[in-house]
Amino acid sequence: MILSLLPLFVLTTFASCIPHGPGGPGGPPGGPGHDGHDHNCPTCPTCPAPPAPGCGTCLDTSLHDFAWKLSIEYHAFWYFTTPAHQNSWGTVSFNLTNPAVAATIRCQADSDRLSDFFYGDQWYTCTPSPAVAALPATSFKFFTHSRFELNQTWTCGDKKPVTFLGLAKTDLNLQCTDVSWTNPNYTFGTGEFYSTRDVKCTPATLDLKPYYEGLVL
Ligand SMILES: *[C@@H]1O[C@H](CO)[C@@H](O)[C@H](O)[C@H]1NC(C)=O
Ligand SMILES: *[C@@H]1O[C@H](CO)[C@@H](O)[C@H](O)[C@H]1NC(C)=O
Ligand SMILES: *[C@@H]1O[C@H](CO)[C@@H](O)[C@H](O)[C@H]1NC(C)=O
Repeated sequence: MILSLLPLFVLTTFASCIPHGPGGPGGPPGGPGHDGHDHNCPTCPTCPAPPAPGCGTCLDTSLHDFAWKLSIEYHAFWYFTTPAHQNSWGTVSFNLTNPAVAATIRCQADSDRLSDFFYGDQWYTCTPSPAVAALPATSFKFFTHSRFELNQTWTCGDKKPVTFLGLAKTDLNLQCTDVSWTNPNYTFGTGEFYSTRDVKCTPATLDLKPYYEGLVL
């Protein structure tokens, strides 16, 4: 079962912020203010010094402006050994950091489904080696031109573990080179390639915010 995070959010925000004034929306300074926040009780990550208890923990990072760090690249080859025979594939690979559990996993998928290789119709599962216990499941979809979708669960705490599910999608706008070459005097049987094409995209690095974050119960 998956529970939307919103009720938890409201609960933790108000449970940890005891109003000092009469409060209420638009209340006096010190109480829950015009924006609904109690300004005596700053929330993370803009922690005061010394940090409030709980700042920077897995739960705190999961609950306040959570975002993954993604570094992703794409590479595709089309090799025609003869005009009629090709050997072609695409590879997407990325490193994904979850700041709540301070873990980075490396993930890759290869496809030989001509001619764009990735069509966003399939979930690929990341199986990090060695396994990362705090990251029970990570899967992704990739569209060659050029969308990325992510599904990850992560777990905070050992004694009373809390598991989050985050979903994200983003347009990547990858910067790629596309180089084609045709053998000008190809002759069958010489072993020379008839033609090649090579698409290579420089790694893109971005902060990826979930469009959905919930608890897995
Ligand atoms: C992922 O990390 C590895 C190891 O640091 C690095 O070699 C590789 O280039 C990175 N890949 C991307 C897409 O950033
Ligand atoms: C995300 O992963 C969870 C756990 O594997 C799964 O239950 C859920 O269906 C997935 N959601 C999507 C959108 O793939
Ligand atoms: C094409 O064939 C000619 C004559 O055999 C040779 O001189 C030339 O180097 C070849 N060109 C390529 C790109 O292999």
